[in-house]
Amino acid sequence: MENLALETLMLACDSHEGARPESMLFIGAQAHPALSGQARLLGWQALKPLADAWDIAGFARSETLPEGKWPCVMVLPQKSRDETLLWFALARDRLAAGGKLLVAMPNTAGASRFEKEIARATGRVDSIQKHKCRAFIATDDGSWNEAIFAEWRKLGHLRKVNGTEFVTQPGIFSSGHIDPGSLLLATNLPKSLRGRVADLGAGWGYLSAAALDACDAITHIDLYEADARALECARKNLARHAEKTAFHWHDVTRGLTENYDAILMNPPFHTGQATDLDLGRAFITSAIAALRRGGKLLLVANRQLPYEAVLESKALAWRKIAEDPTYKVIFAEKR
Ligand SMILES: C[S@@+](CC[C@H](N)C(=O)[O-])C[C@H]1O[C@@H](n2cnc3c(N)ncnc32)[C@H](O)[C@@H]1O
Repeated sequence: MENLALETLMLACDSHEGARPESMLFIGAQAHPALSGQARLLGWQALKPLADAWDIAGFARSETLPEGKWPCVMVLPQKSRDETLLWFALARDRLAAGGKLLVAMPNTAGASRFEKEIARATGRVDSIQKHKCRAFIATDDGSWNEAIFAEWRKLGHLRKVNGTEFVTQPGIFSSGHIDPGSLLLATNLPKSLRGRVADLGAGWGYLSAAALDACDAITHIDLYEADARALECARKNLARHAEKTAFHWHDVTRGLTENYDAILMNPPFHTGQATDLDLGRAFITSAIAALRRGGKLLLVANRQLPYEAVLESKALAWRKIAEDPTYKVIFAEKR
């Protein structure tokens, strides 16, 4: 699917005065052919499928946000307000004196509001509008309001999920609360779950923590998650179960290499803004392939999502074990 904010960012990159800088950092990096000629381009991307696409395109990538200074830092934010402001501050920290900060966002994600935020911090912003997106460019002239960037930097501090000891950070799935679907699954987990378990799309670790607390016979849980930031939070949230857990930055749609006695999931069904049923179906297909004979699959989904058809096409026995007005919990067994 074409990413229009990325297209707009590339336009801004080429249309802004002057030649391309001798090196560039790209925060939220996504591959694009227009980047091919760019010298010394380094990308950081927390989402595994996008990081894989970046690698396949042959660009250099840093596993963590790198330290250093660049004459140009590009930022392609996701959907979270706090994370977007945090990324502006992280980009600022990595900008060499006189350098350029380039950002692009869809109008529907509040691009003009964020442009005003950058203007408030930097004084002057040039912008272009295209593809229902906005790209804005600020050049460091030594007069930026560092107090504003300092406020935005604080948004990166880990925060507690209300009423719990779990920590999260902005931008990850359900960063402010326990997802109600996952809560329904957690309260209906069969106590008899045992052996080796996988948690697919594990987020910040809520389901794995609930399963380890409820089911004494679970010997190990592998947490698979595409978002490196969420996985870092999960590692902290499951520290008390360190000997029973392992964490995998992994695109679940590519399948799993281990086999399991049980698999838990609250599958994603959005790619960016759009509903993507195929993503949930691919999760279920990967899970079924990785289950041992007699293995159990526990999944929660919005009631209207037709995942039962996948279970039937693979001949799994399934039943609904709980539901509420929004969600259903399905228990399936591999025969
Ligand atoms: C509905 S959330 C559930 C999160 C967590 N299990 C919970 O209960 O809070 C789905 C999770 O799947 C992750 N995800 C999305 N696409 C993925 C993929 N291709 N591979 C692995 N994880 C993915 C998302 O980052 C998100 O954390």
